[in-house]
Amino acid sequence: MPDVKPEARPAGGLRNVVAGESGISSIDGQRGVLAYRGIDIHELAERSSFEEVVFLLHRGTLPTRAQLEELRATLGRERAVPAGVVDVLRGLPAGTHPMTALRTAVSALGAFDPDANDDGPPARSRKAVRLTAQMATLVAVLDRTRHGSAPVPPDPALGHAANFLFMLTGNPPSAAAARAMDVALVLHADHEFNASTFAARVAASTLADIHGAITAALATLKGPLHGGANEAVMQMLEAVREPEEAEGWVRDAFAQKRKIMGFGHAVYRTEDPRATHLRRLSREIAEAAGDRRFYDRSERVEAAVKAQKGLYANVDFYSASLYRTLGIPTDLFTPVFAASRIAGWTAHVLEQLGNNRLIRPESEYTGPRDVPYLPLERR
Ligand code: COA
Repeated sequence: MPDVKPEARPAGGLRNVVAGESGISSIDGQRGVLAYRGIDIHELAERSSFEEVVFLLHRGTLPTRAQLEELRATLGRERAVPAGVVDVLRGLPAGTHPMTALRTAVSALGAFDPDANDDGPPARSRKAVRLTAQMATLVAVLDRTRHGSAPVPPDPALGHAANFLFMLTGNPPSAAAARAMDVALVLHADHEFNASTFAARVAASTLADIHGAITAALATLKGPLHGGANEAVMQMLEAVREPEEAEGWVRDAFAQKRKIMGFGHAVYRTEDPRATHLRRLSREIAEAAGDRRFYDRSERVEAAVKAQKGLYANVDFYSASLYRTLGIPTDLFTPVFAASRIAGWTAHVLEQLGNNRLIRPESEYTGPRDVPYLPLERR
């Protein structure tokens, strides 16, 4: 086989390589546009709900009223997780990382799934919706079990976002908190061929089961270069004790050549369109809670980063202060990301399986060639 010409080699990390076709979401990094199935994220953030977005991502169009009601009812029926999976979570050692717990729980869920031995198209679609319903429940259950509390069963009267906050805290959230959570779930639901989505598609392309593909996605999301940035933002906001300290803190960070989490993006060259909504929600929820501490620090950090380095906030920056004010523990920020991204992951798995070909790229070999085998006694 001829050597690949240097100019044909993909850049490191497969940057700028189109690795496949998808009709689910699109990004224009120059103009700062994100769209799900062609619908601008700003419209979805202002007018839609997570349930609608699940239908849109899975099925390709917005649901009719009847379809939305049907999906809401199905999500309500499927939200509870089997007792065997709760036992698996209870059996994990104290101090298990919440993403490790979530990944383990989803893998176990595959064994308990009523369609475990059926991978035909109708069963796949049922599993995609069921997993989407259950992921938020698992996040709440893993938090309660690690603190020795009993899980709070889902309330069929509540929507998906409100149910998550209810199952996590045991208290029904205010309408404003439920709406803020709902919009955050809408904003994180899909983002093209990001690393975890691509991992899910690779696993699915082998015709592994959906739970296996989502387990691969969760393993990939755990890494700090992907899902973990919002946690790091929270640590920064805690280190910046007062808004007045922000400017100096940022200057020191840049002087020490440290990356400031929650800023910059591999694709967007403008403000991340998701950050626009998360900033507003973070402010509204802080004002409603009468606690602007983390919002005020965030605003000052953002202004300093913009002034000193011209970098824009990304999706992770204002989600940190928002989640904190909603009462979500910092180490659950990445699991909450998964509770939203499950909609996109499952949509991508369904799309992959709808027209499957094994994903199997080639590597460019850079090791030695024609090396003779040296017998053990001569090494
Ligand atoms: N803090 C400090 N400097 C940053 C930065 C940040 N958050 N983001 C980018 N830069 C710097 C880069 O180091 C680079 O500097 P250089 O020209 O001196 O090498 C310059 O700004 C341009 O970087 P760019 O090419 O636009 O970004 P990238 O593709 O190299 O990196 C990220 C993209 C997301 C990995 C990077 O912005 C980052 O690490 N951000 C923080 C982590 C984060 O928030 N991740 C979540 C992303 S949604």
